Amino acid sequence: MCDLGHAHSHDQHYGFLVDAPEIRALVDETIRLRAAIADDGARVEALRPAFARLLAADGWLPDACSRPDDTSRMGGGIGQYALYRADDGSLCLFSLVVPVGASTPVHDHLAWGLVGIYRGRQDETVYRRLDDGRDPAHARLEIAKRQELGRGELYTLLPPADDIHYVRTISETASVSIHLLANDTACVWRHRFEPESGVVTPFRSGYANAPCPAEADADGARG
Ligand SMILES: [Fe+2]
Repeated sequence: MCDLGHAHSHDQHYGFLVDAPEIRALVDETIRLRAAIADDGARVEALRPAFARLLAADGWLPDACSRPDDTSRMGGGIGQYALYRADDGSLCLFSLVVPVGASTPVHDHLAWGLVGIYRGRQDETVYRRLDDGRDPAHARLEIAKRQELGRGELYTLLPPADDIHYVRTISETASVSIHLLANDTACVWRHRFEPESGVVTPFRSGYANAPCPAEADADGARG
């Protein structure tokens, strides 16, 4: 379920890659609130209690989805494991494992969602974009805020506000964060940023345990 070392079929890479009642409860609640609340901001606020329940529960995340990944496209041994993926790319739940002292690249997400800490501690640095975004290869960024997060603490994503950030593990063990986002995050073309030089590079992080659709299929999701 959390590695690619078995037979592949479409069915094994979508839906509940990890089938646990705690995960089903959150996905069910997300689908219910998506139908009931049209406003993204109101919807992510309404999802906080269900998301917090998943973060507070023990025993549902397999060890195989909470270990570093030496083949990571993000570098630093960072592991990104799909737990749930909607067939139509409208929703995903994944774990992100950041080894001790490692940092993600500065990146965006391009969808509303919630992120919370399940194990360890992270330091999050959020950037504000100062240019108008018209040049796809350059961005002027400044730090908007920094925060430390421990188990059970969560934040919401509501692009374009606060959508560019990086996280670093500051605990003595790898951090594991849980992400619920309204896209197929690891497979959509996102961006990585170099704040010093302003360089922006197209970026698809990929899941450690599930393939992305062919490049041509992903272009429609390019932000
Ligand atoms: Fe992120």
